[in-house]
Amino acid sequence: MKPIQVGLLGIGTVGSGVFNVLKRNQAEIQRRAGRGIEITMVADLDTARAEAVVGSSAKVVKDAREIIANPDVDIVIELIGGYGIARQLVMEAIAQGKHVVTANKALLAVHGTEIFAAAHAKGVMVAFEAAVAGGIPIIKSLREGLTANRIEWIAGIINGTTNFILSEMRDKGLDFEVVLKEAQRLGYAEADPTFDIEGVDAAHKATIMSAIAFGVPVQFDRAYVEGITKLSSVDIEYAEQLGYRIKLLGITKRVPRGIELRVHPTLVPCKRLIANVEGAMNAVVVQGDAVGTTLYYGKGAGSEPTASAVIADLVDVTRLHTVDAAHRVPHLAFQPEALSDESV
Ligand code: NDP
Ligand code: HSE
Repeated sequence: MKPIQVGLLGIGTVGSGVFNVLKRNQAEIQRRAGRGIEITMVADLDTARAEAVVGSSAKVVKDAREIIANPDVDIVIELIGGYGIARQLVMEAIAQGKHVVTANKALLAVHGTEIFAAAHAKGVMVAFEAAVAGGIPIIKSLREGLTANRIEWIAGIINGTTNFILSEMRDKGLDFEVVLKEAQRLGYAEADPTFDIEGVDAAHKATIMSAIAFGVPVQFDRAYVEGITKLSSVDIEYAEQLGYRIKLLGITKRVPRGIELRVHPTLVPCKRLIANVEGAMNAVVVQGDAVGTTLYYGKGAGSEPTASAVIADLVDVTRLHTVDAAHRVPHLAFQPEALSDESV
């Protein structure tokens, strides 16, 4: 069978990781997917930088629409970020009958309902494992591994940048601004780091998990969001003295009036596993009625950990590409007609 053809939009931190991991582990990935996966086209504003990453193995273009217009491209990976051009390109790719893989939690948390409905109508898949908790396969766990459960609540450290800042401030006594710059240098932070430090990025991710776990529409605008900018080293020190660690948690849970969705700094007792999650690591705790408590831990940000999740989606979409649309879409996308009307 001829390899499935992939177009990559945006080859920055995550895009270059995807390209490199796919190349390095090509044989294993092909065996697992049951078919070759080839990135044949790459779009980036900086074509020289893109060419330096891909060499002669893919065609580099400046205009992403060249990829969307190419009938040979089966899957589009969107790694540009943001709600602007990324939204237009994703909607256009879906309209052209292409599957989409994205790590863009901001886009899905705000426009997910529209995007999933369009994909459902067109019979294509939108896969987004990398959008929540980087390399941790939390979306697959919620959707597949825990599918038998009535999920009661989810709570987690789902922003690597802020966990890195809080850890470094506590352990090394470093200033907030200094650690934030380091998080940016390491490729953890968003293009606009306000999203990280004000809790918005964590709320995007909590919104997506909430929609999957509880079958409600994605409604980021209903979330309570508070970041870490009002915290000082003194708060962190006092918390330690009292036996607590301050963590920025994303929490979503069933409550009598519907579904609660919130992000805020939280005092976590030091003896809890989640209190000891340091640096850019993420951890998500899920409570299901049948399984009880489960914990997922790993790298929540960075080039290759995030690429690991993007490629897992590529493999999934490749496997399911040949399955007829009526059977495959519910697996990877939301089912708009099956959404609950429980308010968030
Ligand atoms: P980067 O900023 O490193 O990469 C984005 C790339 O897209 C840049 O090379 C940028 O070029 C390019 N670009 C911008 N506009 C266009 C356009 N119109 N057409 C083609 N290319 C364009 O971001 P990341 O790789 O860090 O993030 C990508 C996505 O992944 C985001 O949605 C982010 O939230 C998400 N994500 C990131 C993680 C991480 O650890 N970094 C982890 C999980 C998800 P230029 O630089 O010239 O603007
Ligand atoms: N800026 C995000 C973080 C990237 O720090 O967690 C991973 O989604």
